[in-house]
Amino acid sequence: MKKLLVALLSVGAVLSGVVFAQAELDLPGGTGGLESLRGSSLLEETRNADEMKKIPREQSLETDYVYQPPLIPHSIRNYEVTKDANKCLSCHSWKNAKDMGATKISVTHFLNREDAVLADVSPRRYFCLQCHVPQADAQPLVENDFKRVESLR
Ligand code: HEC
Ligand code: HEC
Repeated sequence: MKKLLVALLSVGAVLSGVVFAQAELDLPGGTGGLESLRGSSLLEETRNADEMKKIPREQSLETDYVYQPPLIPHSIRNYEVTKDANKCLSCHSWKNAKDMGATKISVTHFLNREDAVLADVSPRRYFCLQCHVPQADAQPLVENDFKRVESLR
């Protein structure tokens, strides 16, 4: 009985050694069975970038909750927003919006954090892309059962 047990144990040890060695062989450069939201690709391979998402122009996607920053219904490629220049305001400022046929930024964009109304865009609303993102024709990466608030349905 004891002999049998020792025999079984040593067979087991040898087998697990084989499995372990195999796993080790699989690992270098492999993904170890992991997959990210962008799919799996090996470390030393450069994966092709996804295609650029289309920006549906014909309509602005509706907002899903009160106070949602509206999505941007146009491309923003090469629009500079830095401390020196703000391309968005060349169309959306109160001064330019009419001529450019764009929506004016709303009064909330002039409030500072004490709720005082400033004469120009509030610094906390200066970096537009902190809140506004371009709308895109894209599928959710993970399942999402978020529902639009009752009042906007
Ligand atoms: C060349 C002018 C121009 C520039 C520059 C521009 N926009 Fe626009 N934007 C428009 C126009 C015109 C519309 C109205 C919808 C349309 O026709 O695409 C619009 C619509 C929007 C809307 C939707 C407004 C609403 O009422 O739903 C948002 C948000 C917006 N733009 C944000 C931005 C941001 C942020 C930037 C800078 C990254 C920017 N825009 C740069 C012209 C411009
Ligand atoms: C801190 C977040 C935030 C930042 C930064 C911000 N916005 Fe907004 N924006 C909002 C929200 C929230 C709304 C919707 C509620 C409202 O009108 O205030 C909005 C509304 C708008 C609208 C629609 C106004 C209307 O009358 O329907 C435009 C256009 C817009 N923003 C453009 C801009 C531009 C251009 C900038 C940069 C100069 C900017 N926003 C920066 C949050 C932001």
